[in-house]
Amino acid sequence: RRVAVLGGGRSSEHDISLASARGVAAALDPDRYVAVPLTLERTNCWTDPDGRSLDLAGAVTALASCDVAVPMLHGRGGEDGTIAALCDLVGLPYVGSGVLAGASGMDKWVTKLVAEALGIATAPGILLTPRTAQDHVWSGPVVVKPVTGGSSHGVALVRDPADLAAALADAFELDDRVLVEELVSGREIDIPVILGPDGLRTGPAVEIVVDGVFDFDTKYGGSADLRIPAPLDAVDLEALETCALTLFDGLGCRGVARVDFFLTEAGPVLNEVNTAPGFTSESQVPRSFAAAGLGYRDLLTELIESAVG
Ligand code: DAL
Ligand code: MG
Repeated sequence: RRVAVLGGGRSSEHDISLASARGVAAALDPDRYVAVPLTLERTNCWTDPDGRSLDLAGAVTALASCDVAVPMLHGRGGEDGTIAALCDLVGLPYVGSGVLAGASGMDKWVTKLVAEALGIATAPGILLTPRTAQDHVWSGPVVVKPVTGGSSHGVALVRDPADLAAALADAFELDDRVLVEELVSGREIDIPVILGPDGLRTGPAVEIVVDGVFDFDTKYGGSADLRIPAPLDAVDLEALETCALTLFDGLGCRGVARVDFFLTEAGPVLNEVNTAPGFTSESQVPRSFAAAGLGYRDLLTELIESAVG
């Protein structure tokens, strides 16, 4: 089968996406698949496997020549349903969530509303826009996040009221909606979920052991220590897995997602869901399933074959 491996994109996670796409293209089983890497450049052109520049019509033709797509675009303009819509319009099956689940998962405010409706705890928080931000009053230490950000871009932990205005200004540079959440303290535990031929299942829980905040530098600078499986007692593990599966299902996700939590004394508190999680061989989801005996190549085969149906 010809597998379109889509990377790049116009979000701030362009380079991370290229790393995920390169990892996937290199890991595909050569006896089954031919990788067709297609890159969405920051300029909005596409680049084909021979380095030729394609306009949208050319990209559609290239996609239509494939049997299935593996979208590895993280962030806005990719993970948010945009690429799912492109594949839907081309009639190409793809690994991962459809338009609505991608758009909902990208939007931390919508995710929060859905999670709360499903009985999953989230950090108390409010949504600010440039119009309402002026009247916002300090309520204690908070985390400021652009609603549709990724890889921690524009996220700030604010402990001093004097720093709030600058943090909000930085976040509004990236988005016109900003979430201000109470600081939650707990262990950072992420749960990979896949929808395979036998239904939904979770991978071993991943604990992020980090000194301070799991920000862009610790995510990609190699200083975070991942514990897989996270040492958890049965009650906490079951609570985390139930929340992860409930959210995956409730949002209507498909393929693969990673659901990120803080494990507090009161139980799991949802941080966010990633419907196009980082996917190099060293990323959390492939490492989690590898720890359960499903290697990177076989995980991709399972996801691709499930997408093709
Ligand atoms: N947004 C990054 C790629 C992740 O969550 O893995
Ligand atoms: Mg994310």
